[in-house]
Amino acid sequence: MSFDIDKVRADFPILSRQVNGRPLVYLDSGASAQKPQVVIDAISRAYGSEYANVHRGMHYLSNLATERYEAVRTTIARFLNAPHEDEVIFTSGTTEGINLVSYGWAAPRLQAGDEIVLSVLEHHANIVPWHFLRERQGVVLKWVEPEADGSLPAQKMLSAITPRTRLVAVTHMSNVTGTVVDVAAICRGTDVPVLVDGSQAAVHMPVDIAAIGCDFYAITGHKLYGPSGSGAIWIARDRQAEMQPFMGGGDMIRDVSRDAVSYADPPLRFEAGTPGIVNQIGLGAALEYLMDLGMENIAAHERGLRDHARARLRELNWVDVQGDAPDKAAIFSLTMQGAHAHDIATVLDKRGIAVRAGTHCAMPLMQHYGLSASARASFAMYNTMDEVDALIDGLSFCRELFG
Ligand code: ALA
Repeated sequence: MSFDIDKVRADFPILSRQVNGRPLVYLDSGASAQKPQVVIDAISRAYGSEYANVHRGMHYLSNLATERYEAVRTTIARFLNAPHEDEVIFTSGTTEGINLVSYGWAAPRLQAGDEIVLSVLEHHANIVPWHFLRERQGVVLKWVEPEADGSLPAQKMLSAITPRTRLVAVTHMSNVTGTVVDVAAICRGTDVPVLVDGSQAAVHMPVDIAAIGCDFYAITGHKLYGPSGSGAIWIARDRQAEMQPFMGGGDMIRDVSRDAVSYADPPLRFEAGTPGIVNQIGLGAALEYLMDLGMENIAAHERGLRDHARARLRELNWVDVQGDAPDKAAIFSLTMQGAHAHDIATVLDKRGIAVRAGTHCAMPLMQHYGLSASARASFAMYNTMDEVDALIDGLSFCRELFG
């Protein structure tokens, strides 16, 4: 399918609404993306006529729901080019995925003095689970700073690795600056296991896990135009074999008695309890939609938005853009002299333009830039060049107001 922006926009009902009397300009997809009608329909169909619990029933609806739900595992494996679909573990999002690795793989294996290398670009989801190990087990966190232009060279990450390094935890794309990290080069350069936070990258570019060669790759559904509460982490079989279950409960066991428990094979071993059945079915619909459009086509459209936004923002010499690396998505963290980030967001909101203001769940990065907050415009596949211009006009209006 070719990429027709008008058709794509028509697929997202919310984009035709007004906000504060103006057409909505939604530039907060980094926080959470809007949902196409196919996802809304899939959720409605699942609850309306195909719902029961999964993996448990001997009845028609349970079998049907299980079939629909398990098909999403195959869809995710295809979307990420994962080598084996049983390496895809359903989660409620990236946060749960990385916590699973922290509790299930790292905590039982890492000793005091062992090191985790991570970058200052990381989202709190790829920081706090490692802080747990620092606080509780004496694991050492080794931080790698981005370059002045916001890029994060693979070599810089590799240089931080020592004989005590047990894990490299790194984002594939910053949710604040849009910086793309060459995670494949990091994986090629070390035998240390690499966990990649793919929450943002998987939305904006094709991801090929087999080519990257990482050990763990986490995604979240709500940024991928799917339901909140959906997601997955891909974990290589060898790493799964080293893991202990994190959460215990129904569906993850083989046998339970008063004295003993044995576990189901992965991936179910790592999926305790009734899962987010319909959320994952909605995510499956979102990923099929993305694959129909073609991730290359989406990336090309968004490169156009990025280049236009970058050029127009450079005209505004009173706006600072944090981390404008050459290889980045159309995600811009902005500050302006005289106007706090919250003022910028409020002024833009009055014009129907939604941006996020704050620390973007990335406080170490904000500290790196010496900021308490920034305004972030995060573009998605349904945004247009006119919306870039609306942002620029809004920022100019803000400048008039705040001088
Ligand atoms: N991680 C989301 C963001 O970047 C919430 O805003």
